Amino acid sequence: MQKEKKIFLPYAEFADEAQPDTQKYLVYLVYTGLFLLATLLLTANAQAQTVQVLHWWTSTSEEKAIASLSGRMAQENIVWKNAVIPSGSGIGAGIVLKSRMLAGDAPEVAQLNGVIISEWADLGLLQELDPVASSGKWEKSLFPTVWRLIQPKGHPVAVPLGIHRINTLFYNRKIFAKFDLSPPSNWDEFDALAKKLQQAGITPLAQSSEPWQLATLFETLVLSESDANFYRDAFVKKSSQAFVDPRFGRALSRLRSLKKYMPAPLTERTWIATTRMLADGDAAMLVMGDWAKGELNSWGIATDIGFSCAAVPNTANYHLYDIDTLVMLDKGAAARSAQEKIAQIAVSPAVQTEYNQIKGSIPVLRNPELNKMDSCSQTSWKIFSRGGAVQVPSLAHRMATDEISKDAIIAEIMRFFSNDSLSVSDTQKRLAAISRTLPK
Ligand code: BGC
Repeated sequence: MQKEKKIFLPYAEFADEAQPDTQKYLVYLVYTGLFLLATLLLTANAQAQTVQVLHWWTSTSEEKAIASLSGRMAQENIVWKNAVIPSGSGIGAGIVLKSRMLAGDAPEVAQLNGVIISEWADLGLLQELDPVASSGKWEKSLFPTVWRLIQPKGHPVAVPLGIHRINTLFYNRKIFAKFDLSPPSNWDEFDALAKKLQQAGITPLAQSSEPWQLATLFETLVLSESDANFYRDAFVKKSSQAFVDPRFGRALSRLRSLKKYMPAPLTERTWIATTRMLADGDAAMLVMGDWAKGELNSWGIATDIGFSCAAVPNTANYHLYDIDTLVMLDKGAAARSAQEKIAQIAVSPAVQTEYNQIKGSIPVLRNPELNKMDSCSQTSWKIFSRGGAVQVPSLAHRMATDEISKDAIIAEIMRFFSNDSLSVSDTQKRLAAISRTLPK
């Protein structure tokens, strides 16, 4: 009797004669504890929701940005599983996503940017996020352009992550200081300093012959040689008139004239390698979306120390934008709560600040923490917040038009760029003819 009693009386463990029972009691306690812990872990695991996210981000900064999101999701018991399809600007990822959809093997979440959001929403493929958007007051907190982009049919169907500025001219500060140069604000200045650099044996402009990277440069030239309305006539409306306009011709000539400042021979280096040229001082300038800034920072090269941002000549008052977004695909009710949680967290102010600092983009919010942004992002945010008149949708990054039109236009630009015997006016005529066949 007494012995039994001791088992349930912990103070008995201090009495010598109670030792054998005390040991049993301790063993009992340890096992009970382990059992409880295992039960807790199993319950937690049962609640943890694994979510596959298809995206194309593989560079150092892109991976860090993803890790900042997935780390936040882990706190909410969401296991973020990357399904990465490496391809700068997401060309391969779009194809894989389509084939996985057709095979009935859609991921829970996918990166899907631009005009295609509206096409997929039309087909009923995207989950509507009305409850998250209304509880998070997205309509008020997001930039109107972002809000419009993500709710093409009156229902929010995408989660905006950040806004990149495409018309960014990066320059290597060490080289600029050495040759006493200031960032060029027009093409005459650009030509003058590019010649000076060339004479000193430095490649003025980092570049790749990858089509999307050339298109990224070219669209900034169209804006530079015209204005936001003309740009939209060409790349959003695909007006054949715009393609034969002298302003479009000037952009083509400018592209050709920049060739001599690029690395020779020009190869299909990745955008990471193109950015590396600027970082290593193998080139003095780079025109690229500001994901390149995120990348430079992730390599330990600080903004306004190793490099700075300027605008592509004559585009300082514009924001040629590219907005990164995630969409949620229908995987049944069980996935839905995790998908909604991801949507809610991704747009929350703290996550927006942290994620965009790493990615190089700016928050999609009207009231972000401006003091936590570097000079490039502050300028980008200030210009974007001036509104629709100065916001210009990127062709190369899917903001301006559908995939078929984008690819058809870029193919012509590539043809022109790689063959110097093709004339500007013939290329313009071909583009005008092609534009008549494109979806409007
Ligand atoms: C995306 C960026 C990405 C870049 C390079 C762009 O289209 O919007 O987020 O970093 O491509 O892959």
